Parts: sequence; C-alpha cells; structure tokens
Amino acid sequence: MKVSASPELTQFAEDVLRGLSSSPKQLSSRYFYDDEGSRLFMEIMKLPEYYLTRAELKVFTEQADAIRGAFAGENNAFDLIELGAGDGTKTAALIENFLANGIDLTYSPIDISQEANDALEAKFRERCPGLDIRPLTGDYFKILGDLKTTGERRKVLMFLGSNIGNFQKEKALDFFRHLRAVMNANDRLFIGFDMQKDPRTIVAAYDDAQGITAAFNLNLLTRINRELGGNFDLENFSHYAQYRPVECAARSFLISREKQTVHIAALDRSFEFDQWEPIFMEISQKYTRAMIEDLSSNSGFKIETEFFDEENFYVDSLWRPV
Ligand code: AVI
Repeated sequence: MKVSASPELTQFAEDVLRGLSSSPKQLSSRYFYDDEGSRLFMEIMKLPEYYLTRAELKVFTEQADAIRGAFAGENNAFDLIELGAGDGTKTAALIENFLANGIDLTYSPIDISQEANDALEAKFRERCPGLDIRPLTGDYFKILGDLKTTGERRKVLMFLGSNIGNFQKEKALDFFRHLRAVMNANDRLFIGFDMQKDPRTIVAAYDDAQGITAAFNLNLLTRINRELGGNFDLENFSHYAQYRPVECAARSFLISREKQTVHIAALDRSFEFDQWEPIFMEISQKYTRAMIEDLSSNSGFKIETEFFDEENFYVDSLWRPV
C-alpha cells in the first residue's frame, strides 16, 4: 500500500497514518501529552517505581550550591532557559537557591503551548516572587536562534527529566547539534540523563503495579478515537514494557490481544491487527558514562561537570561548547 497523506491532514493524522502503515506498527510518544496524558504523566512522576523524578530532584536539592557555582561562572549572572519545563517543580528548587544567593537571573521556559507557559508563569510568580520570568512561546530552535545575538550574558539551556531518552540516538545527536549551532562559546547546556542500572528497576518504572503507565500509553488510542474518529477498543490492547540491557533501552508497546480491524475516519482507512501484534509506542533510552561522553563529543560539546545522585541512578551533565 502506498502511504501518502493528503495535504489537509494534520501532522498528527499524518504521523498516525505513517506509523500504523509501517511494519512493525508504531505511534509516536510525542503525542502522549494531551490534557489527560499530561495529567497521567504527573501521576507517573509520583509513582514509587518511577525513580527518575525523585533522583533528579534530589540532585537539585542536595547539590544546588555546586550547580549554582557551575552555572554562574565568574559573573554571578546568567539567563536560564528551559526546554520543555513540565510543571517546573524541579527547576523551582534550583531557582530558589539561586535567588537566595543573590544571582542576577532571568528564567525563560520555552514551550510550544501558550497555555503551558501561562500556567508555569503563574506557578513561579507565586513560589518565587522575586524572579524575573520571561516565558517564550514557540519553536525551540527559532527562539534560541533569535536569542543568539541578544546581549552578552551567559545563557544556560536546560533539558531535564531524561526527556532526551525519548529520542532515537540519531535524533538525539541532531537535537544537540542544533542546540550547539544556536549557542555562544560562554553558554552552557545542562541535561538530565537516566543511567543504566538493574534491569528490574528499569522495567518496574515502566510497568508500575497501579497500571498508570499502561493508562498513559492507552490514552494515545483514546486520543486517536476522539481527534481522528478512530474506533480502537482499549480492552483489546495491553501495555507491555521491556528493557534490553545491551542497548540500554526501555521500550513500551501496546499488544493487540486479538485479531481485529480498527477504522480511523479522518484517514479514511482501516488497519488490520494480528493477534499479539505489537505497536511500538516509546523508547526511554538509558545511558552509560561512555554513551554520554560520545553524545557530547559528537555534537560539539565537552562535559564540564557532572552531578550524580548518590546511587548513580541519574546524572545532570553540564556541557560547554567546543
Ligand atoms: C518524559 N519521559 C522522560 C518519560 C520517560 O521516562 O521516558 C515518559 C514516560 N513514559 C512512561 N513513563 C514515563
């Protein structure tokens, strides 16, 4: 079957068409985050099995002074720019330390959604009243490109939460190279990476006992039903998470429990599923130090400082352009 999307299809529709027409079938995890998906992700971050958020928050609360020193350099002033800030809780822990220690700081979360930025701004105005917050709405690279030539102050770009793990390796490299191109020599990039660890710990984080991660994955089928007129029956799919230790990659799938046909009205197409056929939903890459070293050197950076939690579950890595 030739897959060609008609011009009036949205990007979402086009990606669903491409994904369900490919072999193996796949859907992109970037579409997880509608209102319900964002709410479920907040739940995930509180789960006992999902250690990532707690590990990063611990790095921030316990090593805030050292992080401040590394960000501030000699001038005690910088512009903090965050890509995909989420609910901002972890960042707020850092910013409170920065403000209490007299850093001359601006904070700019960048998000494609004006609503997300408005909510974040309101939260920071309440929690950090003295903060100079300047949310920026739009595309990361366009905004950063525009900022490149404004002012002399150091910019510290942050990409937290091991969000980079949801990119395939080549995409991650591309992303870092693009960031490098819009940074000046004195700027810094601060990235959260989830480290390789006991495979059982990782599998549990993506297959929690309460089934919240399963609901998070299945919610994308609900989104397709609602926005594209699909007729997925959620009862007929189950969540499956695996971790492959050689590749350090956690992957999640939705498994078709029976042979079935799903129709998607906006695509004017039906899709056949065999019994036990998987849909690949998400990669959550884990990292060794060597992998992080490779990513940095292959995208034009050098690791300047690393902040590990005490179990070495997680690292926030500060990179400088070379
Ligand atoms: C947002 N991202 C880093 C999460 C992760 O760990 O890959 C998304 C997630 N998927 C299932 N649980 C959490």
